[in-house]
Amino acid sequence: MTTAFPQSFPHTRLRRLRRAPWIRQLSAENSLTPADLIWSAVVHDGEEPKIPVGSMPGFHRLNVAEAAKAAKRARDLGIPAIAIFPHINPARKDETGREALNPNGLVPDAIRAMKDAAPEVGIICDVALDPYTSHGHDGVIDETGYVLNDETTELLVAQAVEQARAGADIVAPSDMMDGRVGAIREALESEGHRNTMILSYAAKYASGFYGPYRDAIGSATALKGDKKTYQQNPANSDEALREVAMDIAEGADMVMVKPGLPYLDIIRRVSETFAIPTIAFQVSGEYAQIRAAGDQGWIDGERVMMEALMSFKRAGASGIITYFAEQAAELLNA
Ligand code: PBG
Repeated sequence: MTTAFPQSFPHTRLRRLRRAPWIRQLSAENSLTPADLIWSAVVHDGEEPKIPVGSMPGFHRLNVAEAAKAAKRARDLGIPAIAIFPHINPARKDETGREALNPNGLVPDAIRAMKDAAPEVGIICDVALDPYTSHGHDGVIDETGYVLNDETTELLVAQAVEQARAGADIVAPSDMMDGRVGAIREALESEGHRNTMILSYAAKYASGFYGPYRDAIGSATALKGDKKTYQQNPANSDEALREVAMDIAEGADMVMVKPGLPYLDIIRRVSETFAIPTIAFQVSGEYAQIRAAGDQGWIDGERVMMEALMSFKRAGASGIITYFAEQAAELLNA
């Protein structure tokens, strides 16, 4: 019987390729560089430059001036893009998340400040209403608490257009409403934002790994119930391919799989099935686990961070959104 990989010991000794750093480097199948990273940043509209986030040790919410500095820092480190997420003053939240459409709101302000500071760095904006709604859902709800698809999409379109007007390079709908990518694309085209890209959170799961993020943006206490009627069931894999196919057909330039590490199989399937850049999101709960265990000395935090980031590349991701971007880039540049 012939196999594709004849293994005849001792002629074949796989450990030869592992014997020294130089040969391990030469035979590496994948690599990780700062250019693979997207810096995930949370911005707030207060005076304080940096506010620690309890459930994300070492991570801070930044005010607009600090966000502008982060953009410069990203440029200096070779990180190509920053994804911004807003922590909205609770006084500005309401049932329908109207603040999301404010052309002079926190996100448009942050985009302008960051673009001003470092125009070479790509700015990615989350399109979803959860930072802005009093109930913490990603869209508008009916009297039963159900998130309304088409009504929500109309608001998302307006939100995305405001982000594009403020100078966002990429709008990234993370809400999981059906049809929103096509609707956003149409609106961007009709307003002349032809080169504004769409990175769709195409395969986004209803996940417990988002817990610390809701703390970071201040939606944790607001959120009643869960997001299972719009985000995907963690039991499913084929469904992710349908989601991605649909978003590509509607005009997505890039697609995302989220969370990251527990869904490496999905990253692999998506990146193999579709010829489109596939971004992994290493979410807040993944950050918190690695960081907290590292801080305790239970694992080597830096090593595990790098190993997890490399695993996304191995699975086929072309980029990784991560709260570790700055730290990882510093290590990679060292
Ligand atoms: C909201 C949004 C979420 C994240 C990014 N955009 C949370 C959610 O869907 O509840 C999660 C990010 C993270 O956990 O790091 N639309």
